[in-house]
Amino acid sequence: MFFFNISDGSGEVHGTDISDRMRVIASSRLKDQLATGRVHIHSYSVDNMGFDDHTFDSVFHCNCYYFWPNMDRAVSELRRVMIPGGLILAIMNMSSLKLLNERDMMVGNTDPDPYMRSLERHGFKDVTLTENYDTNLQKPFQTITATSPMTN
Ligand SMILES: C[S@@+](CC[C@H](N)C(=O)[O-])C[C@H]1O[C@@H](n2cnc3c(N)ncnc32)[C@H](O)[C@@H]1O
Repeated sequence: MFFFNISDGSGEVHGTDISDRMRVIASSRLKDQLATGRVHIHSYSVDNMGFDDHTFDSVFHCNCYYFWPNMDRAVSELRRVMIPGGLILAIMNMSSLKLLNERDMMVGNTDPDPYMRSLERHGFKDVTLTENYDTNLQKPFQTITATSPMTN
């Protein structure tokens, strides 16, 4: 998952993943960006991140929330590290997740509802699930968007 503080054009992007393998892949794909010194990769778990409070104006994650060990702790951390009014964008593909569930290949709960309800419990606004279509891949995908609370 990626955290951004880019609104004034001089910011940075921070990614985090607990998997060594995923960090190797990300570091290879982002080699040029890492070389600029404005992109960083960390090994923090989402529920205990070493970022300062109110650092990021946006958060992006893809195919992630169902692996988080404790949803409320993770969402509380997202709230802590985001500036008030920041944007979360999450992407997933529910039809692929359904197939994995049917084949008993998923460990986490892929239902987006617990994540969305946790965002609301932590004061996030406009928590919305949207159906989308990728015309290049010719596949549907879903997004969850939410705005962090205006109060710290
Ligand atoms: C299905 S993969 C998605 C990876 C990437 N976002 C993508 O779409 O290709 C889920 C990722 O979540 C990471 N993950 C699982 N639990 C995590 C946690 N507690 N904190 C941070 N990342 C975690 C896993 O290591 C894995 O790389």
